[in-house]
Amino acid sequence: MTQATGPVEQTQADQSTVLESLRTRLADLKDEPGSLLEALYIAQEMLGYVAPESIEIIAEELGYPEAHVFGVVTFYTLFYTEPQPKHIVRVCRDLSCHIAGATEIAARARQEIGAHPGHASPDGLLKLELVSCLGQCEKQPALMVNLDVHGPVTEEGVSDLIRSLREEDQ
Ligand code: FES
Repeated sequence: MTQATGPVEQTQADQSTVLESLRTRLADLKDEPGSLLEALYIAQEMLGYVAPESIEIIAEELGYPEAHVFGVVTFYTLFYTEPQPKHIVRVCRDLSCHIAGATEIAARARQEIGAHPGHASPDGLLKLELVSCLGQCEKQPALMVNLDVHGPVTEEGVSDLIRSLREEDQ
């Protein structure tokens, strides 16, 4: 699956270039029915979030009303309409994962990230979200980093994972 990336510092010129290449990448999806979600994943991967300009381009290129594209973006919790940290760690807190220790996993993730759920880490690289079932109950306790699933995870594993995400960016 596509790895969503967050915003690296971007100038306006960078953003215009990215938006133009989004238009190019959408060319292959024009005649594919049901390609809207894929287009949104691509847009989010390129800028780290689905910008209003991305919505405009997707609507134009795929032939949807902008309001429809916006409605889909806001329906799915995996899409963001504001810039996000590069790595979003989503810890499932639903029943199966809860029984398997999700509370401790979330606490360890919060400690490593250094911020409460929903807030960016002090270095701006990470964010923790506590979410409902990821559809990966057989991997309980499960979490996702961007779109990659991990599980079953241990507290130690969470520490290693978050440290390795930080190391990637040094
Ligand atoms: S309950 Fe956690 S992935 Fe389903």
